[in-house]
Amino acid sequence: MASSLRPLAVVTGASTGIGRELAGIAAERGYDLVIAADEPLIDDTAISLRGFGVDVLPVQADLATTGGVDDLCARIQSTGRTPQLLLANAGVGLGHAFLDQDPADWSRVIDTNITGTLFLIHKVGREMRTADTGRILITGSIAGFMPGSFQAVYNGTKAFLNSFSFALRNELKDTAVTVTCLMPGPTDTEFFARGDLLDTKVGQDDKDDPADVAAAGFEAMMNGEGDVVAGWKNKLQSAAANVLPSGFLAEQHRKMAEPGSGTH
Ligand SMILES: NC(=O)c1ccc[n+]([C@@H]2O[C@H](COP(=O)([O-])OP(=O)(O)OC[C@H]3O[C@@H](n4cnc5c(N)ncnc54)[C@H](OP(=O)(O)O)[C@@H]3O)[C@@H](O)[C@H]2O)c1
Repeated sequence: MASSLRPLAVVTGASTGIGRELAGIAAERGYDLVIAADEPLIDDTAISLRGFGVDVLPVQADLATTGGVDDLCARIQSTGRTPQLLLANAGVGLGHAFLDQDPADWSRVIDTNITGTLFLIHKVGREMRTADTGRILITGSIAGFMPGSFQAVYNGTKAFLNSFSFALRNELKDTAVTVTCLMPGPTDTEFFARGDLLDTKVGQDDKDDPADVAAAGFEAMMNGEGDVVAGWKNKLQSAAANVLPSGFLAEQHRKMAEPGSGTH
């Protein structure tokens, strides 16, 4: 990989869902890749992405831990190259009432979505700033616009990322490094099964195609835009969330995410 003349992209959470699609677009556009996920499936993903004729380095690392982020950073460094793109996408959801959740589970949501993401962006972002080039895409969510009854910690992590993304973008405005926040609505991935949300309305309703969501995010990142909400329904919902009272939004979220709110 070190001898390649192609630019390098790093994609986390690249084994499934939105991250898998983001990695596919990067490969199609001629980026060599470092891709990361927690499970061994990431090796199979690498094999299929190599079909695009680019070099792909899979890294199995638990990005909820600083050790896992350090491993990933060491592997990026081993390429001898500064990434041109960083797509910080790995994340997990978690359903049920906060007081019924296991602390090990909700703290892992924070460690994955916020802490691990920030450690990675801090390391790679510094290199990009020194090189005065690079694009960062952070996967936030429209969930960050509303208090997430029965998904309270998750929505809080996404509110954090939505906010953080714009702050970092502003801090870097005098450099050539851009920061973009991808804010998907409900998207058809493994997210809902993993978060134990399959018996909820949001878990059972129709969802966006992860390929479309990833395409919107990649495009916005390449255009250096601040954020992108994929899909018109989600655009409406996020616009409404900006003006509606928090108590009302929390009640609406209950209707979507309360266990048993689905029809089957
Ligand atoms: N689906 C939605 O409705 C939706 C809506 C808005 C935002 N999002 C956000 O989109 C992002 C991608 O989610 P998705 O919907 O594509 O779900 P997904 O299919 O479950 O993908 C999640 C990815 O993150 C990886 N990951 C999770 N925890 C990790 C950890 N500790 N260390 C390393 N990798 C980890 C997973 O790999 P392993 O399987 O190896 O753990 C997987 O590759 C997340 O940030 C999510 O919050 C999703």
